[in-house]
Amino acid sequence: MNFVTTKTAADTINTECLILGVFREKMIGETAKYIDKISKKSISKLITSGDIKTGLGSTKIINNLESVKAKRVLIVGLGNRDSFEADEYKKACESAMKSISGIKLNNFANYLIVEKVKDLNNYYKSRYFIEAYFSSIYQFNQLKTGKKNKISTPTKIIMGASNSGDSAKIKLGCEHGKSISVGVNIAKDLGNLPANICTPTYLANESKKLAKKYKKMSVKILNEGALKKLKMDSFLSVTAGSKEPAKMIVMEYKGAKKQRPHVLVGKGVTFDTGGISIKPSAKMDEMKYDMCGAATVIGVICAVAEMKLPINLNVVVPACENRPSSSATLPGDIVKSMSGQTIEILNTDAEGRLILCDALTYSERFNPKYIVDVATLTGACVVALGHIRTAIMSNNEELSNKLIDAADKASDKAWKMPMGNEYDIQLKSNFADMANIGSGYGGSITAACFLGRFTKNMKWAHLDIAGTAWKSGAQKGSTGRPVPMLSEFILNQSKKNS
Ligand code: BES
Ligand code: ZN
Ligand code: MN
Repeated sequence: MNFVTTKTAADTINTECLILGVFREKMIGETAKYIDKISKKSISKLITSGDIKTGLGSTKIINNLESVKAKRVLIVGLGNRDSFEADEYKKACESAMKSISGIKLNNFANYLIVEKVKDLNNYYKSRYFIEAYFSSIYQFNQLKTGKKNKISTPTKIIMGASNSGDSAKIKLGCEHGKSISVGVNIAKDLGNLPANICTPTYLANESKKLAKKYKKMSVKILNEGALKKLKMDSFLSVTAGSKEPAKMIVMEYKGAKKQRPHVLVGKGVTFDTGGISIKPSAKMDEMKYDMCGAATVIGVICAVAEMKLPINLNVVVPACENRPSSSATLPGDIVKSMSGQTIEILNTDAEGRLILCDALTYSERFNPKYIVDVATLTGACVVALGHIRTAIMSNNEELSNKLIDAADKASDKAWKMPMGNEYDIQLKSNFADMANIGSGYGGSITAACFLGRFTKNMKWAHLDIAGTAWKSGAQKGSTGRPVPMLSEFILNQSKKNS
């Protein structure tokens, strides 16, 4: 697939589909205004007649529009010009791409990019567009038999850049959009796979396959024997009830010479039944998504490798199942973590923190510049932030600011939540150094405080993606979030390095 930028006027461009935008109240967009003029007001007429809607995200395809060389024109509603910002631009791109995803096109030309978007330059405008394109063609049908809809991909995507001084940036935006989409799709696929296929062993094998694809990437798998030797009894307590062997996956991307690595840790519970503290059956199938933290960090390291960033990045994934059996951990059991701290397991369903704490302690050996863990950790996070924003909790303000900034820039939103001693004391146990659940409300925060007890020596942040990693209902499926946010973060960090 080729990305090209062009200064060619929209009416003369030779393409199978010209994409342009119209704002509300006939304040039609830059390109539409121009086309309208040469096509004897055909666009304004269609707006007046109601054939073309101008609300954000509405779309209309017109074949053989008068005085336009393009085979068809896709007109996208952009809503009110005053409120046309990054999120609105992204939504417009997504609707546009969705509306043509069923049409076989060899090429199309994006002239939405010429519209002014507050705080969004041409690099991000083209990146968002390409991300929207890849997300529009994403399908997960590998487990369906029968005839599958084959999606044809264009050989060329054209960006209509009026000020072509930016053409290098536009192309970079396209390339990065494609790289990030590779990461997003890996995360989506791993997330959507059911637990009988996507086991800890499967995750380990997939990361080996991925590491083979990239020259600067390597991977090491730690088996239960190795985990036992490392004294990860907290991690091992979660897998105790399962026949599937637990694995710890350690991936390294070396894009820079001597330099402290960034480390991402992802929760890889391939299925969370709750264990002996078993979950109710409604929607329990969605607990196959409890490895979305793992899927995210594996996606991010691949996106970073695709972009060939000059940075060192390590990924650590503790992977196991959480299920009951006669060998499962019991409520009240006390285990010693790799750090030496003891934990009273009052609820076996608060298992994410039990595997993450040992993975975080393990990661200290890398002397990370920053360490970020990503986990579908608490139902309480969904109560707090819904399915809109990822929660950020951190012991370092510089780091949390960088993450929030990256989330905004990537339009993959996050929100900072507090931590602190008032919450931390809720982890008190009468019998061990701490309990694995808090005694009151604010469950996402006490979960973060638990992890905070294992990251005192590092600049650390925790992302709770319980609300953002997948969608339920008719749209059920993995979102690939927060791969864009973390890719943006690592991208920004790599700039400071080089
Ligand atoms: N994986 C779940 C969190 C979760 C639940 C994410 C529902 C998305 C939707 C986690 O392991 C869990 O079960 N957490 C418990 C913690 C509680 C026992 C303190 C929860 O949130 O109920
Ligand atoms: Zn879980
Ligand atoms: Mn659980």
